[in-house]
Amino acid sequence: MCGIFAYLNWNVARDRKFILEALFGGLRRLEYRGYDSAGISIDADTLKGFHGELVANGNISEAQFPFVFKKEGKVSDLVAHVYKEVSDQSVNLTETFNYHAGIAHTRWATHGQPSAKNSHPQTSGPENEFVVVHNGIITNYVVLKQTLLRKGFEFESETDTEVIPKLTKYVYDQLTKDKKGDEVIPFRQVVVEVLRQLEGAYALIFKSSHYPNEIVACKRGSPMLLGVKDYPESADQSADDTDPLSPKSPIISPANDAKKLDLPFLDAGSPASVTFRKEYFIASDATAILEHTKKVMVLEDDDIVHIHDGIAAVFHFNHDVRKEKAGRPDRVQRALHTLEMEVEQIMKGNYEHYMQKEIHEQPDSLTTTMRGRLTSGEGGKPKGVVLGGLKEHVDTIRRSRRIIFIGCGTSYHAALASRQIIEQLSGVPVTMELASDLLDRQCPIFREDTAVFVSQSGETADTLLALEYAKKRGALCVGVTNTVGSAIARGTHCGVHINAGAEIGVASTKAYTSQIAVMTMIALALGQDSISNREMREAIIDDLLRLPEKVREVLKLDEAMRELARELVNEQSLLVFGRGYNYATALEAALKVKEVALMHSEGILAGEMKHGPLALVDETMPIIVLATRDAIQQKQQSVIQQLLARKGRLIIVCTEGDSVKMCPSGKAKVIEVPHIADCLQTVVNIVPLQLLSYHLTVLRGFNVDQPRNLAKSVTTE
Ligand code: F6R
Repeated sequence: MCGIFAYLNWNVARDRKFILEALFGGLRRLEYRGYDSAGISIDADTLKGFHGELVANGNISEAQFPFVFKKEGKVSDLVAHVYKEVSDQSVNLTETFNYHAGIAHTRWATHGQPSAKNSHPQTSGPENEFVVVHNGIITNYVVLKQTLLRKGFEFESETDTEVIPKLTKYVYDQLTKDKKGDEVIPFRQVVVEVLRQLEGAYALIFKSSHYPNEIVACKRGSPMLLGVKDYPESADQSADDTDPLSPKSPIISPANDAKKLDLPFLDAGSPASVTFRKEYFIASDATAILEHTKKVMVLEDDDIVHIHDGIAAVFHFNHDVRKEKAGRPDRVQRALHTLEMEVEQIMKGNYEHYMQKEIHEQPDSLTTTMRGRLTSGEGGKPKGVVLGGLKEHVDTIRRSRRIIFIGCGTSYHAALASRQIIEQLSGVPVTMELASDLLDRQCPIFREDTAVFVSQSGETADTLLALEYAKKRGALCVGVTNTVGSAIARGTHCGVHINAGAEIGVASTKAYTSQIAVMTMIALALGQDSISNREMREAIIDDLLRLPEKVREVLKLDEAMRELARELVNEQSLLVFGRGYNYATALEAALKVKEVALMHSEGILAGEMKHGPLALVDETMPIIVLATRDAIQQKQQSVIQQLLARKGRLIIVCTEGDSVKMCPSGKAKVIEVPHIADCLQTVVNIVPLQLLSYHLTVLRGFNVDQPRNLAKSVTTE
């Protein structure tokens, strides 16, 4: 839901092309967060040709105003637009700059339709004195806009964001009007005054002609990371060792006195004496930083990062300005982490699409999810589960009055798929809540409750708000996320990371199956002390260990699912019937078909069939029935008979060897899948249906990884 990015080189020579590509590269990685329009801002110097042209036209003054490019459409449209302009102006792309700060944005429209004028960076006026990129929503923008209109500002977009650069200019003018002598008003001070007026959620990056080579970034409610890449101290260490992007890139002044700074220790002394070399990256998520550096700082709400004179200093929104004036800046210490991701993980490799890659990756992602967490009983050790992040809280959860699962979309389905096994093994009743509905109803939650927040991104606004709500009511809050350091991971009392690896396709696939694996392990941990269900637990552990292999087997249905997609490609609608564990599979399969193949699809609880949905059944409507071998298979058999009696056009998903049993008349298409424990069968069953939705999308000619109107990480309510 909007991606923001910044790149700043300090004392590192970079040519124009590199600077542009650093920004475009960041946007390409973040595009899955929003792909309606995109934009960048770079220093006017970086495109002298343009600058000269604009000055000649009287459009801007001689000052070094940041240049802004914006374009409706994909990042590739922006890239083509910029390079066309560059070539039209005969700009020399090889000219180098030792210092440069650029910002970039890819948009998922909330206020105002996708268009160049509504895309970011938004600016303070035609001269671009202040330019801003924003992820989030400013809820009080109408009031601010009215005030600024009264002050004479003119607005050109329909966005909430435009008030920010305009307010920044207003604040800057006020602060500088009253300043004494050669007093310097730091860029961050201007930004803090602006933030005082803003309500809502944001991650923001500011750039200004008044503060060349500086960037201020801040966040409240939306994610943001700072990446740091520094260079070797000594002259004889070449840049080649450290710079994967451009091994031959010249590094200037590799002086003996080069000072290497290690964040978060940021006190570099007098900037005038600074000769160190650094590159900084700010991004909405780690995928945009990873190919440059693995050293990142996860920023917290109300952090303000000010990069100036090559130093990245972190301040709290309420930092003490008096200390600063007394020469002791009131900085915040933030740990620098090393990303445990490899660049290959965020590349498509030999696959056509990320979604395809992520579906086929599931045997590996499931293995990683379970790594180190299961003991198989070998070597005399008991079979069991070790979940470090939950260990201390298992007894409290067992004693809870109820467990409430809270999530949205696919994450909610994963929780639903795990509900029964948690109830069975823990003996605690489990209720299900869609985060938005829980908030709408102001659902009662008590201190005796355990609330489990399931979110692959860990940033979904509804789920986050539900977390705040549950925390206020004293419930124990458990997080199940795929994003280390995310707001939900940080905000919950304890939890488990699913470790599925980066998921780039907007439609969630491997995160879904890893979420179910994790929640099954949580069920095992909660039931660990019970003797009565020991046999069942041990059988599940054995099957968890077999699960990656079973998923590998079921992936062999790829061609069969492509064939089925060819049969269904022109359909208007598709129904999916499931019950028990596979009710979640039905909902999830229907969601996948809906969101990527843009085909109407509905997941239906088979037990409800006679209470309405049966009216839809005729010989034309395709219906998938999930009827794998489990405790309620007989009931599904009878559902199949009733559907066939009404000439239903069925596609039955059943266990290997069960075709005849499930459809003795042979009047249905059958897909056979490997058998596994009931609670894990939903993981195996969803895979062919993920493949079906993938192939349907390709055949229908839609964008697989960036479905219409959607975005990964829904960070607004
Ligand atoms: C669908 C999908 C969404 C997300 C939902 C919640 O494929 O991915 O339904 O599951 O937006 O997102 P997270 O899991 O990040 O909280």
